[in-house]
Amino acid sequence: MSKDHLVIFDTTLRDGEQSPGASMTKDEKVRIARHLEKMRVDVIEAGFAIASPGDFEAVKAVADTVKDSTVCSLSRALDADIERAAQALAGANSGRIHTFIATSPIHMQYKLQMQPDQVIEQAVRAVSKARNLISDVEFSCEDAGRSEIDFLCRIIEAAIDAGATTINIPDTVGYAIPGQFAETISQLLNRIPNADKAIFSVHCHNDLGLAVANSLAAVQSGARQVECTINGLGERAGNASLEEVVMGIRTRPDIFDVETRIDPVHIVPTSRLVSTVTGFPVQPNKAIVGKNAFAHESGIHQDGVLKHRETYEIMKAQDVGWNTNAIVLGKHSGRNAFRTRLEELGISFDSESELNHAFALFKQLADKKHEIYDEDLQALVTDSRVTD
Ligand code: KIV
Ligand code: ZN
Repeated sequence: MSKDHLVIFDTTLRDGEQSPGASMTKDEKVRIARHLEKMRVDVIEAGFAIASPGDFEAVKAVADTVKDSTVCSLSRALDADIERAAQALAGANSGRIHTFIATSPIHMQYKLQMQPDQVIEQAVRAVSKARNLISDVEFSCEDAGRSEIDFLCRIIEAAIDAGATTINIPDTVGYAIPGQFAETISQLLNRIPNADKAIFSVHCHNDLGLAVANSLAAVQSGARQVECTINGLGERAGNASLEEVVMGIRTRPDIFDVETRIDPVHIVPTSRLVSTVTGFPVQPNKAIVGKNAFAHESGIHQDGVLKHRETYEIMKAQDVGWNTNAIVLGKHSGRNAFRTRLEELGISFDSESELNHAFALFKQLADKKHEIYDEDLQALVTDSRVTD
């Protein structure tokens, strides 16, 4: 049976850019957008057109450049925002307006200072306005993670009737827990009478470190779009990371009845580009794109991987754009990894005792140094031969 398509909506250039200190120029956004297009991201949220003249130009430049992905601009549920978004997207092959309004009691009372019925009215007006300008309209219930389910059902039904083609459920403050968030998505899909007329999407923030877990739980409940960012960049603790969501779906086809169209080989180069452009380094132990994500230092693991890669690897480093996995030589490394690396360097030993002597020197050095490089090994073997 063929699997459902999961839409990958990348918001590195919009929500990612909202990370303090991560702002990008127009040219940088276009460069990253080209990588995202090559990776076959379905939707690229390029910015918030009304936010500044620079962001308008950036959304426009991405819309004029990218041909194979839908290009999206964010807008509040206000006429001026929606018109500006439509202007920026005029040159797009395929454009989307993403309009949002807050739906949680705390946001409606303190931020919007509006009654719930007024919020529904404004949402309907905004979606109708956007639908008159473009056929692809996404509506988001900001702070849905803390909104009441009955109210979400009412506003979403009205937004779909007004023409929204995608309904996004953001966990704006990263408050959700996977089982509970999955239940919310199931309830919305079951209770909203016209739910089948729109794609349901999730947009999770990482304040409790659960953005990816919540997104994947929502997919199991029927969400068919995930909003995410490269390296998990985004407001505060960030957004769900694209690479983790995509590789989670790909690595566990037994769990998920969806597929993405992402070509994962572009993941690592795109991660590097985003890190360079924003100046946000990727932590070494970050899943998929961290420098240690496919590195093995312990002797037991190295020995296992050298015998059969899948003993300690659930993905192939090359599939996500690394050149190779890495056997990192350090104090936990064993004789097998030591010998293999030396053979790769063209160094062999005449006898087991010669190897043992060099291995003992290697262990002494490894106690003093975090990582042993090829040059260290070459010097060490020369020394071991001199002292033989
Ligand atoms: O986190 C959020 O609620 C957002 C919306 C604007 C979708 O980024
Ligand atoms: Zn967000």
